[in-house]
Amino acid sequence: MSATKIFVSRQIPAVGLERLRQHFEVDLWPENGPPSRQELLQRVVGCSGILSLLSDRIDEEVFACAGPQLRVVSNYAVGYNNIDIEAAAARGIRVGNTPDVLTDATADMAVCLLLAAARHLKPAIDNVRLGRWSTWEPLGFLGSELAGKTLGVIGGGRIGSAMAKRCHGGWGMRILYASRGSFSALGQTTWSSRVPLDQLLQESDFISIHCDLNEQTKHLINRQTLQMMKQGAILINTARGQIVDQDALCEALLYGPLGAAGLDVTDPEPLPPEHPLVGLDNCLILPHIGSATHQARDAMSRIAAENIIAAITGVAMPAEVARSGQHSSAPRA
Ligand code: DGY
Repeated sequence: MSATKIFVSRQIPAVGLERLRQHFEVDLWPENGPPSRQELLQRVVGCSGILSLLSDRIDEEVFACAGPQLRVVSNYAVGYNNIDIEAAAARGIRVGNTPDVLTDATADMAVCLLLAAARHLKPAIDNVRLGRWSTWEPLGFLGSELAGKTLGVIGGGRIGSAMAKRCHGGWGMRILYASRGSFSALGQTTWSSRVPLDQLLQESDFISIHCDLNEQTKHLINRQTLQMMKQGAILINTARGQIVDQDALCEALLYGPLGAAGLDVTDPEPLPPEHPLVGLDNCLILPHIGSATHQARDAMSRIAAENIIAAITGVAMPAEVARSGQHSSAPRA
């Protein structure tokens, strides 16, 4: 009998690979960059499981190429907008993700971006790096303090809630949140208020995006919604790049009302260095490193592997995404 084969689409922390190798034959994509579409379609042939990254589009074509023995796709991410959940369900393929373990890392990064944007760290660092630091400037790089301001959180799930907790506990911020879901982690708190999105946009000094990317949230932040924001507002995005219309963002950063933006995610990724946002002093861009801590990535590796082992052995997966797109045991991020 031939061994059960799992395709792992990128090098991930060893802990998960070791777990998989105890059970299966692992075909690990050896390069730093992602497999091309063609390479992905070839490598999945005959696999019973795929451990995918958020940059791999996993859809009906992949399922058809893999063959009927494919049982599970385990995404090395909490977000799974790269996977066609309906097509997977139609074929009885189970889908897993890695919630919870990256909540703190991603919320920390949102705070990091907020502080950096509010205090103009990008132009200040450039000032030193490019030899332009000539004197102590009483009027140079004047930013905004966080204490007592209003934070608007779009998406009231785990990561949004962890961000709100940091900002409320650390700086006494007033917390508003907007959420479409019936369950919201922020809804369990006494110190946050659920408001309509328009009100959040109009009243917040800082706005942090933590919702899923789906048909409803694509370009949720657009010309119209940007124009509702306060003069000098700061926008943070650690969720998905496509939630923001980047042309509109660029205009709002150049001509108002936005004061600054901090982005850990862009559309596309990587964002070409010649993109207009990259050159703006008031737009800080990171290469999607919200979950990039040793702790989070090791835990993601372990859960992604355990999801595959559980699905193939036919038991409950640690984190299974249900057909509706909802996580089966806990609320979405
Ligand atoms: C995710 O998990 O969805 C993040 O974007 C990457 O860790």
